[in-house]
Amino acid sequence: MKRLLVLHGPNLNLLGTREPEVYGAVSLPDVDRALREHGRRRGVVIDCRQSNLEGELVTWLQGAEREGYGGVVFNPGAFTHYSIALRDAVAAIRVPVVEVHLSNIHGREEFRRHSVIAAVARGQIAGFGPQSYVLALDALLALGEGRVRAGVNQRRRRGV
Ligand code: DQA
Repeated sequence: MKRLLVLHGPNLNLLGTREPEVYGAVSLPDVDRALREHGRRRGVVIDCRQSNLEGELVTWLQGAEREGYGGVVFNPGAFTHYSIALRDAVAAIRVPVVEVHLSNIHGREEFRRHSVIAAVARGQIAGFGPQSYVLALDALLALGEGRVRAGVNQRRRRGV
C-alpha cells in the first residue's frame, strides 16, 4: 500500500472558518499538509482532493484503483446522509474506503446520525477532529499489512 487517497466532500474547503466551534480552526491545506507528513513518516504517499460536486467524487472513487491507490479515506460531508450515488460508488470499487468525520455525527442533529455510506465502507471514524483522518490512514495501513481481519461486510461481499 504505497499510495492512499484522501477525499474531502462539500464545504470542507471552508475548514478553519466554517463553524469553528464544530469543525475546529485548522484550515484544509493545513490538515492536508499534516496528512502528507504523516504518510511520509509511514512510507506512503498521500494525495488529497476536495470537491463540492457529487459526480466528481464518484469519478475519483471509481478511478482510485486504476490510479494506483491502495485505499481511500473519505469524508463525504453532507452527502454522507443522502447520496446513494456515492454509496453505490463505494460499494462498486475494490479498494477499501474508510469513512471519516471531524465531528461525532452520532451525537448531533437527528438527520446527521444516519450515514448511507457506512454500511459499504470498510469502517467509520468520527469525532476526533482532523485526527480522524490520521486514524483512518493508520487503519488502512494496518489493513494493508494484514494486521486487521476482513470485516463482516467484506467477507459477505466475497461470499465467504
Ligand atoms: C461532516 C459531518 C457532516 O454532517 C457535515 O455535513 C459535514 C462535515 C464532518 O466531518 O463532521 O460537512 O462530514
